[in-house]
Formats: sequence, C-alpha cells, structure tokens
Amino acid sequence: MALSCNLNRYLLLMAQEHLEFRLPEIKSLLSLFGGQFTSNQESYEKSPFWILSLPSEDIARNLMKRTVCAKSVFELWGHGKSTEELHSSLKSYPVEKMVPFLHPDSTYKIKIHTFNKTLTQEEKVKRIDALEFLPFEGKVNLKQPQHIFSILEDYGLNPNCIPEKPHNIYFGRWIADGQRELIQSYSVKKRHFIGNTSMDAGLSFIMANHGQVKENDVVFDPFVGTGGLLIASAHFGAYVCGTDIDYNTVHGLGKATRKNQKWRGPDENIRANLRQYGLEKYYLDVLVSDASKPSWRKGMYFDAIITDPPYGIRESTRRSGSQKEIPKGIEKCPESHVPVSLSYHLSDMFFDLLNFAAETLVLGGRLVYWLPVYTPEYTEEMVPRHPCLRLVSNCEQKLSSHTSRRLITMEKVKTFENRDQYSRLLSDPFLPYQGHNSFREKYFSGVTKRIAKEERSNQE
Ligand SMILES: C[S@@+](CC[C@H](N)C(=O)[O-])C[C@H]1O[C@@H](n2cnc3c(N)ncnc32)[C@H](O)[C@@H]1O
Repeated sequence: MALSCNLNRYLLLMAQEHLEFRLPEIKSLLSLFGGQFTSNQESYEKSPFWILSLPSEDIARNLMKRTVCAKSVFELWGHGKSTEELHSSLKSYPVEKMVPFLHPDSTYKIKIHTFNKTLTQEEKVKRIDALEFLPFEGKVNLKQPQHIFSILEDYGLNPNCIPEKPHNIYFGRWIADGQRELIQSYSVKKRHFIGNTSMDAGLSFIMANHGQVKENDVVFDPFVGTGGLLIASAHFGAYVCGTDIDYNTVHGLGKATRKNQKWRGPDENIRANLRQYGLEKYYLDVLVSDASKPSWRKGMYFDAIITDPPYGIRESTRRSGSQKEIPKGIEKCPESHVPVSLSYHLSDMFFDLLNFAAETLVLGGRLVYWLPVYTPEYTEEMVPRHPCLRLVSNCEQKLSSHTSRRLITMEKVKTFENRDQYSRLLSDPFLPYQGHNSFREKYFSGVTKRIAKEERSNQE
C-alpha cells in the first residue's frame, strides 16, 4: 500500500506471543480510533518490529492504551540494515521534527533494545556514542528523563543462528507502552471465582480488542461461565451481561475448581470477580439460560458478543429440551416438568450463535468467538458464514498436534431479515462444517488419556 506523505512513521515493538492474533488486534484498534493500518512492510508474521504510518501521535497513544499484543510504540526517526544506513536515514529525518525534543532545557536518555542477542555494556555505550551527530542539546537524566530515545536492533528469529550484525536497526522516540501488565494483574491464578475453562487473561483482552469494545458499549456473552470475557470488556468501560445453562456456575454454587478447596465460597460469583477489579459498576446481570433458546425480546441490541462456546472437552455442549424431543427408546419421566438436558451438536450451536448475533448486534457490532477444529480436516470453508455477518479475521491457536481453536471475528454489515435465519439450509458452504460435530472424539483420538490430560493442563 502506498504511504501518504503526511503520515508519520511509527515503530511498534510487538510481543512474541499469540503471533496470529497481533495483526487483527492492531487493525481493529486502529479502525476503532479512526486510524487505518498503513504500512509498506512485507510481512508481520513473526517479526517483533513493525513499521506503520499513522495520522497522529494521539492515535498511537490510544492504540497503546488498549493493545496487549504490542509492547511499545516509538516515533521512528531512522531505520537501516546497517549502522551506516541507520545514520544516513537519521540525517535525512527533518531537524524541525527532532528539535522540540532535543532543546537545551530538556532531559533525555537513550536506551538500547536488542532482539535475539545480548550486548555488553561497552557495546551499548559505543552505539550511543556513535549518535553524536544528532543535535542533542539537553541533559542526560537516567532516572526521570523527559524524553526517552531507543536504538532497537533486530538479530532475527533463530536463536541457534545469531548473526554478528543485526538485520535491521531502528532509532526512535519512545511514545508509550502497551497493556501487557494486564496479563499479570488480571491473571486467572489470582482471580476470586474461576472454573475449569476460565479464559486466560491475555486472550480475553485480545478478544475484547478484536471485538472493538469501547466505553458505554453493552457486551454480551451467551456462554458466560465464570465471566472471564466480561471482565476484559468491563475493563475497557463496557457494561456486561451473560447467560449460562449451568445454574451452579451462574449462582457460584457447587464444587470449587481450586485444588485445596471443596466447595465454592459464599461470594464466588461473576459480580464478585468484577468487584475484585473495581469494575462492579459495569455489571448488568447474568442469567441461567440456554443459548439455543434465547429469551431476549425483539429489538434488543448488543454492541458486541464475545464468547467461548463449549467444545465438549472439559464441559458438555448442552441445551435444554422438552420431553417431546427425547428420541424414541429413551425412557421419559412423566412427572418431571423441568426441561431435560439434550446434547447440542456443535454445528447447530455455532449456527444458532451466528443467527443470534446477526439478529441482536447493532450494525457494525462484532461477534468474536472460538471455533474448535480438527486440524487435519480443517479448511477455511468450514468457518460458518451468515449473510448479515462479514468475516473480519480468523486466527489459529494450536491446542495439540491435531486440534486447534480458531478465534473468529465477524462484523454485522446488514440488517437482519426473517429469511436470513434459514440461510444455512439454503447454502452448500455450510455442509463441511458438519464435521465439527465429532470434535470431541477427534480431540481424544490417537492420544492416550494421559497425553490429553497433559495438553489440557498446559492450556490452564
Ligand atoms: C468454555 S465455557 C466458557 C468459559 C468462560 N469464558 C469463562 O471465562 O469462564 C462454556 C460455557 O458454556 C456453558 N454452556 C454449555 N451449553 C450451553 C448452552 N446451551 N447455553 C448456554 N450456556 C451453555 C457451559 O456451562 C460453560 O460454562
């Protein structure tokens, strides 16, 4: 894409984790803040250094208030494949853009960041001294400088083959850090109320970012569990609500998940989780309800639906049913008026979810959810579609050698009409998706129970 000349260049230092989720996160956030992802860089797949162009520093700051995939952003003053190239690039950077940060009353420091190599103190000092030609007039202050500049050196991705000289060298003015610390401060390990499938904090924030959650939004999770996804949305200022078919989960009753605790305590519930993080004011409510039979009145709209439906591995895919729906040959219980629990095919569940999202999202609202797939059989056609929803991104997280889950983000682009609810029946592309029904059997196929157990505990 051609770069417009009135855009400034910025350098993003990306975290080397959840690589596939990074580009959709940055793109979603930039479009949320009125920016656009504009870059000449060829590949973003693995590198921690991304050069992009942005219309203003404010957009860069807003981006960093939200991202968990980027560590820091710098205003890029120079870039080269060698020290000589870097220096000549710095010499051509407009002095008038440098001067506001280099004047005699200012304080500054220069930091060195290397990727895939450690430099000695002597080597670091040498690199800083070599920048003498820059018109620094302020005083060095290592403790509390007004301005921080960084030299960033990229020694590639292979730890077994570290080159003598870096592949790329960057110099920039540090602007802001991202929100990586949220991964620790919201860690499930320190959370009040957790379950077997509580969503990892980092991924919850990534999901809220893919969903473009913003202040005063209403965000809904139809498979709410312990509310891990509500917490991330509430952190970004959205009002949150959810449903779950499991009475004990919604009411915080029953067996505890923590090893050294038998039963859940009196206040182990989603509201208390939000309170733990000072977010209780964003709690609307959570209800016991079956996602296959939504009980919302017509005209109810959500700004985002962010959810992690069951895959049938650590919790069952269930829906409530009536006595009539019980297949022949299975004994019915005539006196029971309580809806019985029927198994819920994964393909039906995702189709219901898309239909529900198409009906209840505001136009431009986003659905973000996890789709489990058996990797040897996966093709892109398997990802469920809906005429009202545009596929925005589809990112893989591996679960085992033969299974993964894909984070799917869709945006509502068309008003729901009654005929849209039958779209699946009319369209062939949904057929391959029936393959998801046997995900559970496939998950456990070819692995012993012991290996499967190890894999599950690695995810926790
Ligand atoms: C993967 S867990 C969600 C975990 C949640 N994200 C968290 O952080 O705790 C899926 C949840 O869906 C619920 N569930 C299963 N079938 C359901 C249905 N038909 N309707 C609503 N919830 C259902 C399960 O009880 C479980 O709590």
